[in-house]
Amino acid sequence: MASNLQANKPHAVCVPLPSQGHLNPMLNLAKLLHHKGFHITYVNTHFNHNRFLRSRGPDAVASLPDFRFEEIPDGLPPSDADATQFIPSLCDSTRRTCLVPFRQLLRKLNDESSSHSSNVPPVSCIVSDSAMFFTGKAADEIGIPNVYLWTASACSFLGYLYCPQLIHNGLTPLKDESYLRNGYLDTIIDWIPGLKGIRLKDLPSFIRTTDPNDIMMDFILEVNTAMHKASSIILNTFEELDHQVLEALSSILPPIYPIGPLHLLVSQINDHSLDSISANLWKEELECLQWLNTKKPRSVVYVNFGSITIMSPQQLQEFAWGLANSEKPLVWVIRPDLVKGDSAVFSYELLTKIKKVGIMISWCPQEKVLSHPSIGGFLTHCGWNSMIESLSAGVPVVCWPFFADQQTNCWSSCNEWGIGMEIDSNVRRDEVENLVKEILEGEKGTKMREKAMEWKRKAENAIGPGGSSLLNFEKMNLEYQLLTY
Ligand code: UDX
Repeated sequence: MASNLQANKPHAVCVPLPSQGHLNPMLNLAKLLHHKGFHITYVNTHFNHNRFLRSRGPDAVASLPDFRFEEIPDGLPPSDADATQFIPSLCDSTRRTCLVPFRQLLRKLNDESSSHSSNVPPVSCIVSDSAMFFTGKAADEIGIPNVYLWTASACSFLGYLYCPQLIHNGLTPLKDESYLRNGYLDTIIDWIPGLKGIRLKDLPSFIRTTDPNDIMMDFILEVNTAMHKASSIILNTFEELDHQVLEALSSILPPIYPIGPLHLLVSQINDHSLDSISANLWKEELECLQWLNTKKPRSVVYVNFGSITIMSPQQLQEFAWGLANSEKPLVWVIRPDLVKGDSAVFSYELLTKIKKVGIMISWCPQEKVLSHPSIGGFLTHCGWNSMIESLSAGVPVVCWPFFADQQTNCWSSCNEWGIGMEIDSNVRRDEVENLVKEILEGEKGTKMREKAMEWKRKAENAIGPGGSSLLNFEKMNLEYQLLTY
């Protein structure tokens, strides 16, 4: 048996989907559980482990005695590095191949825990990304609870859960490609509780398939089944923000715990032993913070399309001209792989215009940027982390949703939360220019900022003393501790 106090801790094995927007919330949750006395095993893929090493050095994956990193393969061909950025390949590969190495990992951890010299307690629960639902089988096999973290938005979760009805009602798959353009996607769906008045085009983008055997639709149906069998489900939102949607979710799912915004909850625990652990796959360029210090309050537009959006060179040009023509101060994050084919190339004239008002970098400390007083608006792809980080910082958004839950997040921002304005998917420079001016200086922009500030206060209350997320976290933690002993 393991030999000291350490060995008596509950032990959570945390399994994120190996993609940036999923790694961040899972790491935050792992830190919170560690703070509550859990021994943590955080499972990276070999590919990401090496990527962390390359971009941030050995410290990025250095284990502490009670917070350890392990690795399993993602099943993708070794030469196919970029495939991890392609979510359907990644999801399909992990669901087909990860169970076997994951079982081996659990066996190894439990074997270690039974050795006399070990500090590793027996595994007592699995905390897994919903998209890594193969973990459910492994948990059942050894009779421990499997808790899922739903890292995307609550509104999209509801959309995914209603996919079987959408299929049953003949609304998806689409009959053919013309249905993408003939107004069909404007059909209003008025029978999903919590999403009244939503259009087909606002539901998660995977419903736009014309393929009856679409991989992502099949994947979603499997995720749904797994969610119904979960021990419980954690969400990165808070009750005040998503009240109706959460009510609808809790009427059809096992116990749900909205404990967000996770990044705020984790920031208040003051556990500095874990400060060096971060989930960044890219190296942050910090000079933008100094640059922001030189700008007036709420005068800068921040532009970032997250970790996996890919746009065409034409779309990039439209954004670039629109931003340059607005002549507003600008922090623009352009990932090296943001643009299809060639990397981002601008004419001398355009580059000079952009550089006159702003700076361009390839990755930034987004939470710090969003909470900088100079930021007045965020042009975003509406990834859920970006949305909840923006809302928590009181920053209104201009939305250009790319895929997955982002369409639904855009709908909620514009129609439910009053903090967003949408740019047409067929982006044009004059629209970009006008919306950037509006968000920074217009009447509508001012109203949206007031609303965003209201959400910021509500988010802070939710994670503060007596707040809904903090209470849910305490309740959840107590139940896990009881369950896992
Ligand atoms: C993906 C999906 O796109 C998203 O819809 C889903 O909800 C989660 O997974 P991604 O596209 O990367 O995520 O967007 P987002 O959810 O916004 O996550 C990006 C994360 O990376 C955020 O936490 C953001 O703070 C961080 N980030 C991004 C940085 O720290 N620096 C950057 O320069 C860009």
